Amino acid sequence: MSRATFASRLGAVAAAVGSAVGLGNIWRFPYETGQNGGGAFLLIYVLSVMFLGIPLLIAEFTIGRSAHANVSRAFKMLAPGTKWYLTGVMGMLVAVIILGFYTVILGWTLCYTWRALTNDFAMTVATAQTVDPQLSSADVMAADFSAFSSSVWSPILWMAGSILINAVIMLGGVQKGLERASRIMMPALAVLLLILVVNSCLLPGFAKGCEFFFYPDFSKVTGRTIITAMGQAFFSLSVAMGIMLAYGSYLGDNTKIGKTALSIASLDTLIAVLAGVVIFPACYSYGIDPGKGPGLVFITLPNVFMQMPGGYAMCLAFFMLVLLAGLTSCMSLFEVPISYLQEEHRMSRRVATMTVALVVCSLGVLSSLSLGIGSGVTVLGNNFFDLADKLTSLYMMPIGGILISLFVGWRLDRSITHDALTNWRNDSGWYLRPLIIGLRYVVPVLIAIVFVGNLI
Ligand code: TRP
Repeated sequence: MSRATFASRLGAVAAAVGSAVGLGNIWRFPYETGQNGGGAFLLIYVLSVMFLGIPLLIAEFTIGRSAHANVSRAFKMLAPGTKWYLTGVMGMLVAVIILGFYTVILGWTLCYTWRALTNDFAMTVATAQTVDPQLSSADVMAADFSAFSSSVWSPILWMAGSILINAVIMLGGVQKGLERASRIMMPALAVLLLILVVNSCLLPGFAKGCEFFFYPDFSKVTGRTIITAMGQAFFSLSVAMGIMLAYGSYLGDNTKIGKTALSIASLDTLIAVLAGVVIFPACYSYGIDPGKGPGLVFITLPNVFMQMPGGYAMCLAFFMLVLLAGLTSCMSLFEVPISYLQEEHRMSRRVATMTVALVVCSLGVLSSLSLGIGSGVTVLGNNFFDLADKLTSLYMMPIGGILISLFVGWRLDRSITHDALTNWRNDSGWYLRPLIIGLRYVVPVLIAIVFVGNLI
């Protein structure tokens, strides 16, 4: 069985961080915050991470490290003869559907990296301003983004490129190269974000942007806000669908599961918050509406960089790092269906990779087209892109979260959980009792309330 393994224990943790920190932090979190009223969304998001995300992360690591197996097999081993393995099958479906829009955004990132390299943003603005000198760079970049994302070929080709890069990496199994690269690039991403945060403090719209981001205006909170924040917390932590379960199976026996989960969640949240601190002041400085949706990052950041000294290099570095962050997350999404096909359907790695890449590419074409010529095709008022996004984060991931917490809370043998969390009685595991109570009653009930509340 050719299961992917990591070079080292640190590699497993780095890969888990690589999976968590991705486009979800830098692209999705800011635009969802922008669309859902700012501060109140942030608050609900942080509460979701603390009280739902972290327990689920611990639960997934516990299942994974105890079974040392893939998602569906882990459930079969720990609960033989039951239907629990379907949780794993659903996780695999979630991964494929998410990939159907994630690769589109990764394609945009690839394109913007190329444009940063060729200094295309400045040229686009200059060209547009020779025609109409009244245009601001923010207007030009916004129009440019919407023309790009709604066109037919260009985004599809960039998406295909991003799938190709993933497929090549996935074909080689889990590469030490990328593991090592993410270990260097992730800290680099953090440093670059810090520089941008400092720059953001100097922008004229800093106070207004921060007020929007940090001041919780509860009059804007609806059931929708709450479920969106919860879905985003799961999405950003990569929990509730078994990917962290798979990575948990590579964790070493002396890794402290609780501590690891806490550091991954804190780092992931910190990066999302810093992205917000960079983006919202920029919106208020250049007159960009923070509720612009999926294009937010692609419109605001080129503008910030254009006004900065040394902006060319920073812009290039930034998009390259977002690309890398997105790539490591994308790989983790690819790993789930590929290893499933390999292990459960006895496909070779090559055939499995190509099958998944083809399916993802077809979904990607549909999502990409649904932002342009296909926008008229809707299901319950959602185009294909929104449908894939909402189906997973508002429906499938909450259900996955409920199932995983119930599994560890009620079904999994208590001695297994106890051994996993105390490392066979070597650590105190003081949080064991509250965790079990949380996973039995609090986590599933809270998710269910939010979930059902959203349906009504
Ligand atoms: N967490 C990643 C991000 O923030 C996306 C991601 C990777 C993901 N693996 C996942 C989301 C599994 C849900 C489930 O970009």
